[in-house]
Amino acid sequence: MDFISKFLEDADKLGNRRRLRSMVPVSARECILDGKKCIDFSSNNYLALADHPKLKEEAVRWTNLYGVGSRASRLVTGTFPPYLELEKKIAAWKGSEAALIVGSGFLANLGAVSALADRGTSIFADKLNHASLNSGAQLSGADFKRYLHLDYRHLEEFIGKETSPRRIIVSDTVFSMDGDLADVEQLGKIAGKNDAILYLDDAHATGIFGVRGEGLSSGAGGMTISMGTFSKALGSYGAYLACSEEIKEYFINRCSTFIFSTALQPATYGAIDAAVDLVQTSEYIEIRKALLMKSANLAREIRGLGFETGATASPIIPVLVGDSDKALRISQKLLDKGILAVAIRPPTVPKDSARLRISLNAAHNDEDISKLLEALSLNI
Ligand SMILES: Cc1ncc(COP(=O)(O)O)c(C=O)c1O
Repeated sequence: MDFISKFLEDADKLGNRRRLRSMVPVSARECILDGKKCIDFSSNNYLALADHPKLKEEAVRWTNLYGVGSRASRLVTGTFPPYLELEKKIAAWKGSEAALIVGSGFLANLGAVSALADRGTSIFADKLNHASLNSGAQLSGADFKRYLHLDYRHLEEFIGKETSPRRIIVSDTVFSMDGDLADVEQLGKIAGKNDAILYLDDAHATGIFGVRGEGLSSGAGGMTISMGTFSKALGSYGAYLACSEEIKEYFINRCSTFIFSTALQPATYGAIDAAVDLVQTSEYIEIRKALLMKSANLAREIRGLGFETGATASPIIPVLVGDSDKALRISQKLLDKGILAVAIRPPTVPKDSARLRISLNAAHNDEDISKLLEALSLNI
C-alpha cells in the first residue's frame, strides 16, 4: 500500500492535496465554511435555484407521490409516467426531437461517449474539455486526439487526415475552469464537412445561455448530441442527453451508465421539472441577462486590478495565478476576510495554471462584489 502514502505525500509537496471541508449553506450568497461565515463565490448555483421554494415544493410533492427511491434502473422496474413527460418537456426546451435523463453529468458523458465510440472510432476533443468526456473517450478504446483549446484549425488539420469510418468531435460549450465559450457554429460546420458526430457538453451553458436558458448547443445546427446538467444553474442534480428519437433509443440500449444504474430519485425529478419551467419564464430571462452583465463587469474590474482572467464570457471568472501554493495562499487570505474563492490546481487545470475560480450567481449583490474586489486588491 506504499503507493497510497507516496501519492498523498507528493500531492502535499506540490501543493495539490485536496481536503474535504465542512460547508453549511446559508443562502445562495453565503455559507459557513469550517465554522466561518463567508460570501460564497465558488458554487455553480448560478441562478440561485438550489434553495428555491418552488424546487423544494416540487421535490416534496414528487416524493409524496412516488417515494424516496426509484427502486431500480428504469429498464428493470419501468419508468414512472411523469419521467417520460418531463423528458418531452426537456426536448421541447432544447429544440431536440428527444431527451433522456441520466444520473449525473459525469455519468451521462461517460456512458454516452463510450456508447457512441468503439475501437474503430476517432474522437477529437478540445484540450480543456471536462474530465468526464475524456473518461468516456478512454473507456471506449477509440483513438483519442486532443486539439489545442479552441483552435479549430488544429482540429481541421487532425480531422482532415482522418481515415477511420466513425469520427466524433467532442467539446464543452462553456469551459468549466475558464468560463470561455466554444464556437458551436464553427464546430457544427466542421462536423458537417467531415461527416462527424458532434457531441457538446452544455453543463455550464444550461440555464445561462439561450433565450429560454436552453444553452448553446442548438447553435451548432445539424445532428448534434448535447449533454447538459441540472446540477449547476438548474439547482439540483442529474443530466440530460438531447438528441434524435433514434439516438435516444440507442442510448437506452447502449449507454451503460443509464442501463446499469438506478434512476434518480423522484424528488430530483420534481426539482428538475420545476427548474425547467422556471428558467423559461420572463423573470429568468431578465435574471440571466443581469447575471451575464454583472459577470462581464466583475471580470473587467478584476483585470483592472492587474490580474488576468483569460477570455471568460460567462459567470465563471478565473483569476489566473500560476503557482499552486500562491493560489492556495491567496484563497486562504480571502477566506480570512470572509470570502470563499476556491483555488483550482493541477490536475484539474494544466500545470502552472492554478487559479481562483470565481463564480458569480444571481443572488450576489454590489456589496458582495465590492468586498471581493477589495480583498483581491490586497493580494496582487
Ligand atoms: C463541463 C462539465 N461537464 C460535466 C460535468 C459533470 O456534471 P455533474 O456534476 O452533474 O456530474 C461537470 C461538472 O463539474 C462539468 O463542469
